[in-house]
Amino acid sequence: MIEVKELSKRFEGRVVLDGISAAFGPGEVVALVGPSGGGKSTLLRCLNGLESFDAGTVRVGGDVLEAGGARGEQVWNIRRRVGFVFQQWHLFAHRTALGNVMEAPVYVKGLGRDEARERGRALLAKVGLSHRQDAYPSELSGGEQQRVAIARALAMEPEALLLDEPTSALDPERVGELVDLLSRLRADGLTLVVVTHEMRFARELASRMLVLHGGRIIEEGPPARVLDSPHHERTRAFLGLDRVAGAAASRS
Ligand SMILES: Nc1ncnc2c1ncn2[C@@H]1O[C@H](COP(=O)(O)OP(=O)(O)OP(=O)(O)O)[C@@H](O)[C@H]1O
Ligand SMILES: [Mg+2]
Repeated sequence: MIEVKELSKRFEGRVVLDGISAAFGPGEVVALVGPSGGGKSTLLRCLNGLESFDAGTVRVGGDVLEAGGARGEQVWNIRRRVGFVFQQWHLFAHRTALGNVMEAPVYVKGLGRDEARERGRALLAKVGLSHRQDAYPSELSGGEQQRVAIARALAMEPEALLLDEPTSALDPERVGELVDLLSRLRADGLTLVVVTHEMRFARELASRMLVLHGGRIIEEGPPARVLDSPHHERTRAFLGLDRVAGAAASRS
């Protein structure tokens, strides 16, 4: 469970997150959506200590991040519990798919290489990549590299996984596969927080949608409700519903 309370963050004096409170529970997939610059990536990065903040708290189980507080050990605990899958994947170019997945358990957790290899193989099987375990990142497609990045994050046995725009480099078929994979992880009880601009993806995958605008959560609810009948006019504008309604009115 990740719990955020009154989280605020400025960049160069400009408010980017403005008192965000939210909770993300086990087996829940939350889609973070909203206009560009609304603070989605910044919030995601705050959730696992990749970014510091000016006020509020982030709590993951018994580990707490505080604004400007001592950060060392708490940050490491939280990064272990909350995995992050970057948009550009950031795989180690000189390691195979299996090597990438083994790296953190061996070097961070001190797991023996044989055990790490066994677990790495099982994780690659889970993401459908057993047949590519000896390939290097440059030999893998974008979708395959992303799945290695997901397996690598899972290797630390996190409670939650954060993904920033995971569909941006995928064709529609790969997006469908990603929905299947993430749905399986959710069924395992993982908490998933996903920033996305693809509303169909969010609708299929998420149990809850948060709309972030100007550093605030302006709307929240099941994706179908938010997308089909948004309460906030800024959400309507973001989804382009006003334009559609306007066009329909001007046609009639
Ligand atoms: N390192 C930084 N230094 C200064 N300003 C930053 C920094 N990172 C982000 N910002 C600003 O913070 C605001 C929120 O950025 P953020 O990346 O969180 O938005 P976003 O919702 O993820 O947008 P997008 O959909 O375009 O990815 C933006 O105005 C951005 O310019
Ligand atoms: Mg972003």
